This record gives sequence, C-alpha cells and structure tokens, in this order.
Amino acid sequence: MAEPWWRDAVIYQIYIRSFADGNGDGLGDIAGIRSRLRHLADLGVDALWINPWYPSPMADAGYDVSDYRAVEPRFGTLADAEALLREAHDAGLRVLLDIVPNHSSDQHPWFTEALAAGPGSPARERYLFRPGRGADGAEPPNGWQSVFGGSAWQRVTEPDGSPGEWYLHLFAPEQPDLNWEHPDVRADFEKTLRFWFDRGVDGFRIDVAHSLVKEPGLPDASDLEWPRKPVEVDGELQRAPWRPHPFWDRDEVHEVYREWRLLADSYDDPKVYVAEAWVDEPERLARYLRPDELHTAFNFTYLQAIWDAGYLRQVIGETLEEHRAVGAPATWVLSNHDVARHVSRYAREQTTPGSSLMELLGRPADLDLGRRRARAAVLLTLALPGSAYVYQGEELGLEEVEDLPDEVLADPTWERSGHTDRGRDGCRVPLPWSGDAPPYGFSPEGSTAQPWLPQPAGWGPLTAEAQSGDPGSMLELYRAALHRRRETPALGDGELTWLDLPEGVLGFTREPGFGCVVNVTAEPVALPTGYDVVLASGPLPDGMLPAATSAWLARPQQ
Ligand code: NOJ
Repeated sequence: MAEPWWRDAVIYQIYIRSFADGNGDGLGDIAGIRSRLRHLADLGVDALWINPWYPSPMADAGYDVSDYRAVEPRFGTLADAEALLREAHDAGLRVLLDIVPNHSSDQHPWFTEALAAGPGSPARERYLFRPGRGADGAEPPNGWQSVFGGSAWQRVTEPDGSPGEWYLHLFAPEQPDLNWEHPDVRADFEKTLRFWFDRGVDGFRIDVAHSLVKEPGLPDASDLEWPRKPVEVDGELQRAPWRPHPFWDRDEVHEVYREWRLLADSYDDPKVYVAEAWVDEPERLARYLRPDELHTAFNFTYLQAIWDAGYLRQVIGETLEEHRAVGAPATWVLSNHDVARHVSRYAREQTTPGSSLMELLGRPADLDLGRRRARAAVLLTLALPGSAYVYQGEELGLEEVEDLPDEVLADPTWERSGHTDRGRDGCRVPLPWSGDAPPYGFSPEGSTAQPWLPQPAGWGPLTAEAQSGDPGSMLELYRAALHRRRETPALGDGELTWLDLPEGVLGFTREPGFGCVVNVTAEPVALPTGYDVVLASGPLPDGMLPAATSAWLARPQQ
C-alpha cells in the first residue's frame, strides 16, 4: 500500500491576510490565494495550511472566531472557499484549515447568549465563568495569566448593570475559553470538522491543541511558568522535570483527539490533523501522536534551535527517537506567523533557544549571514526524515520587519503588554510579489488601498518576480530543493544515519545513496569524499564547504 501522503508532505503555510489581496482592499483573501496557486504548485509543495478564514471581529487576526462554519466576508464567500478547494486539488495541492477549539470570539452567539442569560444559567456553562474573590468579588478567581499579558480573567457587567462574574481567557479578553467538559462544545466542534471535511478539506491544524481541558476547580498553582525554564544540574542546563500544569498539556485532552481521530478515519480518503502544541518534552509531544490520536505535530524545539551543530543534532536525534516510539513521522519547521522570521534570528549570535522578536531587538544583526544560514537550514530541513513546513515568504528570504511604526501594530500583545512587547506583526507583513515599490503586487494593479501592514522600501529585489529565474536566488533554491526532494526516493519518511564529521559539521546519510552535510562553523571545511554534490546552498570553491553552507550529496551508482 502507498504511504499516506501526510507522512512526508511539504506543507506551505498561507497566512491569509498577508498572502495576496484579490479584491484590492489591502487585506489578503481567498481570491488572492486562487490567483497565486500557480506559484505554489510550481514551488513544489504538496499541501497548503490556511490560517483561520472564518467570520471574526479580528481581535487576534482571526483566532477569535464568531462562526466556525462560514467564511469572513473580507476574505470571500463559502462559494469562493469551495472553488479554491477544487482548484487546489486540481493543481495537486491538499488543503488544511485551522481550527480554534480552545476559545471562541466574544462575539460568538454562545458568548453573547451567556452574557445576556446571567449567572447560573446553562448558557454560561459553555464557557468558564466564576465568581470573583475578595470583597464584592472584585478580585479575579485565580492568578492565571493570559499568554498576551495581564490576568487571564475578565469581569463582566451583568444584565442588571451590576459588576458580575469573571470569565477565563487564556489569550485576549475577546477570546473566552470554552468549557470542554460541556457536551455542546464537543458536539459542535465535531459538527464543524464534518462541515469542512464534507466540502473537501483534507485536514486541520489544531490551534493550541494542548490547552482545552483545565484542571477541575481551576486551582491556583505556585508554578505557572510555561514553558518551564531549564534547570542547572552539575553545571549544565537541563530541561526542567515535567510536572502537571493546571491548563497546559493535561492528560484529559487526549480523549478529545481520540474522538476526532475516529471522525477523520471515517472518510474514504482519511483526513489528517497537525497539532500546535507548545510542549517542551519530546515525550509529552509524542503522546499527541499515538496511533489513535493526531497524525503529526509541529516541532517547535527544532524551530527554536540555535545555530549550533551539537544542539541541532541533539534536537534532531531526540525528535526522531520519540516519534519512532509512537510510529509517527516527525515534522520540521523554521518559521510561522507567531515567531520572528528565521533569517533575522540566524542573523544574530543566539546562545539560548528562542523565537520572539523581543529576544532579537537591539542585538547586532548581519542579514547576509542570516540569509546564508537560512539557505543552509532549508536544505537540512528538507533532507530530514518526515514532513516539513514552509511559512509564506521564507521562500523569498524575507526578514522580520523590526521597525514597524507603533501606530500600525495590530497584535494584541502590544496593548496587553503595556507597549513593552511589540508582538508578532513583523513576520506578518504582506508578501512582495512584483515591482519595486509597495504594494509590490500584493494588491491588484490600480487599487489604491494600502497593505494592512506597511512593507519595507527595500523589498524590490525580494519579490517573487525578481527572484524567478535567478539561479542564485532563495526562491530558486527552494524550487530546486523541493523538486529534487520529490524525485529522491531516500527523502521524506524514514531514517537517517549520522556521519562522523569534524566538530561543528552536521551530516547524515539516507538510503538509498543520499547525503546531507551542513557547515555550522565559521570556517570552510572539506566535503566528505565519495559523493557527488547534487545541490548546494551556496558556491563550493575548491571542493570545500564554506561556513553557513550545506550540500546535498549522492553516492555514485556502482
Ligand atoms: C496560536 C496561534 O498560532 C496564534 O496566532 C494565536 O494568537 C493563538 N494560538 C491564540 O489562538
């Protein structure tokens, strides 16, 4: 039997509001995606993952959903969505959507009903409403903190005008957490999955898949830190021992995914899931991937890895070991819409793993070095066993836009942090497609609307048009690597064998006859002998592998 497609798929992430604007309002949309399907098919990816396109007040860029079974009018219509699904399938591309089960929008009919129905009503039980503590209930029910800053609780005004109960929101106040103990919640999400599956959607990325279930009684805990900071043991930093947490990664959440798996498997061409679960321990992540649960999960440990051969090898090794134990393929990802673009991370000397813009600001950056490392990193990523993700714009080598003016910042983190954390907008700037000035073909010719976030003045040479056909460009490197990956039987799902190479050089072989070597040092090193080079991330003068360069190798046929 053929391998299931998802075990080695390369999946391209479309951050819809910034991919391509088809109707000229400065915001990306479904028409824009349809107009650029050729770019995606030519690139050589197997599937698309599209960030939420449902009706939303956009308090968190669509992760505050007010109707899970419809399309946001600013993005198009349900008919547009169905047309896109057909066209993508015709172009050989599978399509994953993004489901947001931990919270709805505060404009979801269930939440407005809950507010109007008042304390003690059945409608409030679909969310996590609690009385406050202290005199007159003026203190939040517990000390849990929102991921976006501040308390995770918001007090409501009751229908009679009095100050009332509080509701839990692990993210923005406009994103009330749903109560996963409630049968309506479970039933409604299954209905949503079926709604989209029946329209041809091939699977879902599950937003904050490791939240959903909270500890009964919502207790305070002395240690709410997440992810936990490493601890020092015998002078070495080690991962902190796992301990249960009142709302992240609780064992009970797995019951939900067992039900979802049954539903996915009930289709003739089974549907698939990918978990967004920020858990530190590879063993805890692998639990989501047991054979009767989710298919794959993003590998954030790899995404956050520093540019260091020893560390990379350790992360890759641990990942493969834990995934092997549950029979699931690993995934490899360098960037997404929540983290600083990897060109900008690699432009700095990183000493600790991490991925946020705030970790970079103010530190000297060498973007040329960042791009060279990014080129080397994509060859490594696409050679590793399993499936891989490409975040829109990384194929163009885009950097994080670090100097967006304060007044355009739209990420709720900016306000919630009291203007101390600039948030995630710098990796969400609309893509440059063509031309040498904003909007770089992002919006149709003649439209006067500005892109929803301003694009930098210097992106002319980075447009898809400018890079197309230039053999030295990032875009052509991605195209070459993706096409060669498809033609190379050794790549995709499987195993690797590490090569014994000098310190700072990472290399492995995969059978039949493939090798990958990455120079993570600052000096040129000799290429391993006995192989032909089939693709390299940069020039290889005198048969050497320069610093921050990688190569794909083939063992000549005997
Ligand atoms: C993870 C999403 O990727 C992020 O963009 C969003 O803000 C949070 N989940 C909350 O839904």
